[in-house]
Amino acid sequence: MTTTMTARPSLYTTTIGRKVLMAGSGAFILLWVTAHMLGNLKVWLNRPEFDSYAHFLRRMLSPPFPNTWVLWIIRILLIAAFAVHVYFAITLGLRSRAARVSRYEYTDHVQADPAALTMRWGGLTLAAFIIFHLMMFTWGWIHPGYSFDKADPYHNVVGAFGEWWMVVIYAVALFALAMHVYHGFWSVFQTLGLNNRRWDRVIRVWATGASVFIFLGFISIPIGVAAGAIS
Ligand code: HEM
Repeated sequence: MTTTMTARPSLYTTTIGRKVLMAGSGAFILLWVTAHMLGNLKVWLNRPEFDSYAHFLRRMLSPPFPNTWVLWIIRILLIAAFAVHVYFAITLGLRSRAARVSRYEYTDHVQADPAALTMRWGGLTLAAFIIFHLMMFTWGWIHPGYSFDKADPYHNVVGAFGEWWMVVIYAVALFALAMHVYHGFWSVFQTLGLNNRRWDRVIRVWATGASVFIFLGFISIPIGVAAGAIS
């Protein structure tokens, strides 16, 4: 008698499982990004409000938790979500490329899907931006024309956007973020099988609303500083 061993399909190995993990990690990151944007809008109030918000982040639930513990739990979850998101973005990309290659005789002229290209290049732009952003506001390694003060994020934000090219870098990154959020919404609904005519308008409205909301919330800050409304 012979027994055949077949690998059980799992969340990590099936295309649908991987898409669910991408959507879940993406949703968690989006939730954090939205909270970050809303918190940052306090810069429009005044220096003490904004700085006390940054201090609140470090002292969340303290006591009973020691200072920065909750912040570190969120950071670890965020890093894990980024790792999952990037890993499955790469492996799903390679898988769909392999599927296409085997279907066509020649590979040089395979038509690139514009949404997939936007996600790939936009994702790479965002990854580069996040490193750049941490170097500016978290580690204080990049601070053109001002001195970095870890205890005074308001001062750092106003200092950073005193340079016009910094406003341009942020505008480009935030546009990439908005496009990423827009297409991300689409892929989630596609995975759920809801991309039919009935849902088309609803998805379009939600995707546009979410990406415009995030873009305008963030971009108001560099523009507010550059225009002298935040100083
Ligand atoms: C105009 C737009 C933005 C402003 C003014 C801004 C401002 C800041 C500031 C001041 C900090 C340092 C907080 C502190 O440690 O005291 C920070 C941290 C951070 N920002 Fe932003 N941010 C912006 C957009 C973004 C975007 C679009 C992303 C992600 C896509 C992002 C991701 C992060 C991350 C991951 C951290 C590190 C958080 C931590 O230390 O745990 N930021 N941001």
